[in-house]
Amino acid sequence: MQIINTVEEMQKFSDLAREEKKTIGLVPTMGYLHEGHLSLIKRAGKECDIVIVSIYVNPTQFGPNEDLSKYPHDFQRDKTICIENNVNAIFCPTDDSMYQQGYQTFVNVENLTKSLCGKSRPTHFKGVTTIVSKLFNCTKPHKAYFGQKDYQQTRVIKQMTRDLNYNVDIIVCPIIREKDGLAMSSRNRYLNEEERKSALVLSRSLDLAKKLIDKGETNPEKIQREMVKLIESENSTRIDYIELVDVDNLTPKDRIEGKILIALAVFVGKTRLIDNLLV
Ligand code: PAF
Repeated sequence: MQIINTVEEMQKFSDLAREEKKTIGLVPTMGYLHEGHLSLIKRAGKECDIVIVSIYVNPTQFGPNEDLSKYPHDFQRDKTICIENNVNAIFCPTDDSMYQQGYQTFVNVENLTKSLCGKSRPTHFKGVTTIVSKLFNCTKPHKAYFGQKDYQQTRVIKQMTRDLNYNVDIIVCPIIREKDGLAMSSRNRYLNEEERKSALVLSRSLDLAKKLIDKGETNPEKIQREMVKLIESENSTRIDYIELVDVDNLTPKDRIEGKILIALAVFVGKTRLIDNLLV
C-alpha cells in the first residue's frame, strides 16, 4: 500500500491506474476509521480495481467553535486497517498542499445546504463540497463512497457532482450501527459512559417514529412531538433539530406519504450526534 502526501504524486498514481484501464474507488474520510468506514472500503474493494482512502481533517468544514483541534486521530491504526483491507493507497495531504497560502476558491451548493445541519452549521457544507471536489481532482476516481449517516452530505455531494459535471458515481452505503443501535461515528469517542447510554435515544426515537408511521400516523408534527418527548426524557440531551423531510430536496413534509427522511441532530453533553432513517 502506498502512502501519498502530495497532490502531484496522487494525480500521477491515478493517471497511471487510468492508463492501465483500472477503475478507481475513493473513500473520503477524516481518519479515525471505524466499522462504518470499513463498510465503504469493502464495498469499494468489491466494485473497483484500485481503492484509495483519503485521510484529511478538513479545516474549512469546521465552524469557529467546533471540534477541529480535538478531532480524534490515530494514523498508525488507520494505516493498519487499510493494509488489512487491501487498500491500494492512502492519500493524506498536508494543510499547506490543500489550502496553499492565498487560497480563495470554494464550491457551494446553494439550497440543499440551508436546511437540517446547514442551519446550525452554516459554513459546513461549503467546506465539504470544496474538499470533496479537490479530492476528486487529486484522486480522479470513477466511484466515490459515502455513508448514509451523513444523508444531507450525500445529497449535497450528488448535487455538486451533477452541477459541476464530475464523471464520478456517488455510492451511498447503509448506516452501520453498534449492536445497541448507536450509529457509528468517530465522535462517539467523546461520550463518557453515561452519555454513551443517553445517546441510544437517537436511534430509539427513530424506531419510535417508524412505529408510529407503520401504525398509520401521517402528521409529521405529531411524530416530531413524540420524538422530542422521548429524547428530552434522557439525561444531558439537547435537541438541535428533528425533521421529517423530502428525500430529494430536504424540505419539511406537511404530510407523511411516499418515501421520507427522518433526520435529527442532538447534543449529548457537549457532543453533537446525528442520525437518520429513510422510511
Ligand atoms: O464525511 C466525512 O468524513 C467528511 O465530511 C468528508 C466527506 C471526508 C470531507 O471532509
